[in-house]
Amino acid sequence: MLAAIGTSHAKTILLGEHAVVYGEPAIAIPISTIRLRAEITPQPGGQQTVTSAFYNGALAAAAHTNFAGVATLIRQLLVTFDAQDQGFNLNIISDLPPERGMGSSAATAVAIVRAFYNAFATDLPHAVLLRWADVSERQIHGNPSGIDAATVSATRPQWLIRGNQPQNLAMPKNGVLVIADTGVQGQTKLAVQAVAARYHADVQARQEIARIGVVTRQAAVAMAENDLVTLGRCMNSDQQNLVALGVSTPQIDAMVQAGLKADALGVKLTGSGMGGCVIALTPDGATAQKVAAAMARAGAIQIWQHDFSTAEAD
Ligand code: PMV
Repeated sequence: MLAAIGTSHAKTILLGEHAVVYGEPAIAIPISTIRLRAEITPQPGGQQTVTSAFYNGALAAAAHTNFAGVATLIRQLLVTFDAQDQGFNLNIISDLPPERGMGSSAATAVAIVRAFYNAFATDLPHAVLLRWADVSERQIHGNPSGIDAATVSATRPQWLIRGNQPQNLAMPKNGVLVIADTGVQGQTKLAVQAVAARYHADVQARQEIARIGVVTRQAAVAMAENDLVTLGRCMNSDQQNLVALGVSTPQIDAMVQAGLKADALGVKLTGSGMGGCVIALTPDGATAQKVAAAMARAGAIQIWQHDFSTAEAD
């Protein structure tokens, strides 16, 4: 085993969350300026330890912690490399807030898989990376569509229909996406279960999901044409559908209204909802500042701005 690093970054779902679980498409944007890094340092003596903001301690003691899903992934990687007895410390340094719909758990998995493949000097095809990330995502979220892992490992916006390989989309040429943190944990597993209960019980919920699919397809066309006004409209109508599915909250609704009043083209929750982040599409930096200030007044505890014109692929 070599000393090695693996990296990944945040993501935000532009449209299609929840519906993607039921076979509709989703569009997600990599946010390559918000980064995560996994560093493996081989250690003599066989001890396997993790240092991070969310778990510190022996890998073997992680079973009933919030690191359990990732620990399962690491153990399976060690079996694959026939390195179960190899000592190491895994250090995870992350700028991503956990449980805010920014892909923290998928980014952790992706960086760790990349670090282990680097540590064992092994090529890692992208499809194999996504299969590995699914190991921990499945344990953490129950029924992941794969959109998170696809986007935290990608440099271009991703188009995903569950069960298919994710496709690259072109990044919009301009516009600024404002990402505002409600400060409330998003609870993906709970939100996905709540939508599932409605989906199976209620024909209206199934219609909302189908409508999200239609709007997401319209949004992909708008993105390809760099038509930010239509893209914003699609985001607004997606938000209505997500409200109807029951995953918005009064705080999210207040931040959405604040963003719209400040001239955002489209504002919606992103990721699982029930907390997490709100995203606002704005035409330029000046409007983005105005929207960010309005969302801060409406309760956002942290705000990022992602300028499409300068967004760089990793
Ligand atoms: O909250 P996040 O960023 O983990 O996003 C979850 C997205 C869902 O569509 C709600 C679930 C999924 O697996 O796609």
